[in-house]
Amino acid sequence: MKKVFPMILIVFVLSALVLAACGGGGGQSTSEKPAVPAEYAGKTNPLGSDAAAAGKTIYEERCASCHGPSGAGDGPAAAGLDPKPAHLNEVVGTAGDDYLFWRIAEGGSMAPFNSSMPAQKGILTDEQIWQVVTYIKTFK
Ligand code: HEC
Repeated sequence: MKKVFPMILIVFVLSALVLAACGGGGGQSTSEKPAVPAEYAGKTNPLGSDAAAAGKTIYEERCASCHGPSGAGDGPAAAGLDPKPAHLNEVVGTAGDDYLFWRIAEGGSMAPFNSSMPAQKGILTDEQIWQVVTYIKTFK
């Protein structure tokens, strides 16, 4: 009987870890961001603020139609979308560089997002994604 309690504890800790790895599972507050996958977690922007100029050009070509000219989610294509484009001007204040890079690279076709946010991986280089990250950070 004595060994049962530690076993329960181990099972509990393991399931908590698994849930955390899956982004917290369902039923959590929607304002909480899912955890950044290991492949992207901890990435930091290697570029300086001068990268924003190149990022602006890419943003206007590839992002503004949905996210709007200043990231307020009010681009011309936004009306027909469900879920709606994120308000990047609010998101960049709290999201880490690794979160932003991940979301831009992988888009929203996977759970829990299931959105029309297009993946940029394979279209933009890592450097170009960082340029866009640098630019959208100027929205906050
Ligand atoms: C076809 C419309 C569309 C285009 C184009 C688009 N997005 Fe999105 N984006 C969305 C939608 C819809 C969401 C909200 C759902 C989600 O998080 O996937 C979103 C979410 C995001 C998020 C995550 C915000 C959060 O709170 O988690 C980031 C960051 C982002 N977009 C950046 C960009 C950037 C940068 C570009 C251009 C390279 C871009 N998007 C192009 C539709 C678009």
